[in-house]
Amino acid sequence: MKPSAGSTFLAACRGEPVSHTPIWVMRQAGRYLPEYRELRAKVDFATLTRRPDLAAEVTLQPLRRFELDAAILFSDIMTPLQGMGVQIEFAPGPIVREPFRTMKQIEALPPLVPERDVPFVMESVRLVKAEVPRGAPVIGFAGGPFTLLCYLVCGKPTKEFAAARASLYAAPQAAELLLEKLADAMAAYLTAQAQAGAQALMMFESWAGLLAPAEFRHFALRAVERTMKQLRPLGVPLIYYANQGGSLLADIATLDVDVVGVDWRTPLDVARRTLGERKAVQGNLDPAALFAPPQELRNQVQRVKREAGPRGHIFNLGHGIWPDTDPDAVARLVDAVHQGMP
Ligand code: CP3
Repeated sequence: MKPSAGSTFLAACRGEPVSHTPIWVMRQAGRYLPEYRELRAKVDFATLTRRPDLAAEVTLQPLRRFELDAAILFSDIMTPLQGMGVQIEFAPGPIVREPFRTMKQIEALPPLVPERDVPFVMESVRLVKAEVPRGAPVIGFAGGPFTLLCYLVCGKPTKEFAAARASLYAAPQAAELLLEKLADAMAAYLTAQAQAGAQALMMFESWAGLLAPAEFRHFALRAVERTMKQLRPLGVPLIYYANQGGSLLADIATLDVDVVGVDWRTPLDVARRTLGERKAVQGNLDPAALFAPPQELRNQVQRVKREAGPRGHIFNLGHGIWPDTDPDAVARLVDAVHQGMP
């Protein structure tokens, strides 16, 4: 098979040969970019996510500066929950005004109707699609149900999300109901993004690594399966990223997705042995490596590419880019990834 002429990102998602390794960067639209900080000084974060013209502008900023192979919609994992009536502020992490602690609150959570509750998200996708440089594909995204539960129960970012993890043991049926509701809401949300033009869909499970495999399977993975089953008929590549998921890969291997995002703690050759040949991998340079001198950064890129192998690899960081990263280091990263063989 010859490398396809279209998007290298979409080809790599499907495990097809590519002329160069595609790259995008988790949290590529954000605070490390001076043009983002300039806009953000004038407009609060929630407004940026709700105004399609501004959300599209911020989405496109990194693609104008760097030869990135995909755009990720500028939004937040909590945005659809705001649309479902949950009061959330950003400072800068999400703060839930009334953390979920009772069955009554869970039962009262309504379903998400994207066109009614978050119409600006689909409008943002359409604006990005119309203007995206080099015809780069647009990735739609949502938070994983368990990660959303962590924020809803704890009410703010914490180190261990203790109250959320305790709730799985203290009130498992309430947790299951909340996860089912979130799974269905995220299925509706991601479907609407795909219908608006998103060409791939990604689920961020940022706090999966807090769970032991049995709890991961019972709570987090079951909910993700419920979402992914509803997305499969759309025909777009599905990406699942579990931060600190190294000990969960055998379970993630059973999930019907095209691509698995891997953090930097698990080498991609090791991850592939567990995930099998049919899944592509995305990752997994340590965000800290962007602070290396140029030659060492190139060495690190080559190592990641070697471990990933030539097919079914989308280069990325192992987690979001740090706000104090030098944008010039990102330019060097993109060049290094594109140089040479996949
Ligand atoms: O990747 C992108 O460029 C698209 C935009 C994006 C944001 N958040 C913008 C944002 C994406 C994909 C997210 C996902 C997100 N949000 C996750 C999953 C990915 C991960 O990093 O694990 C999580 C856990 C959140 C929740 C969240 N939102 C946190 C913890 C924070 C605090 C600060 C931070 O940047 O980590 C936010 C706020 C947020 N979301 C900002 C941005 C650019 C900063 C807000 C500001 O400008 O003040």
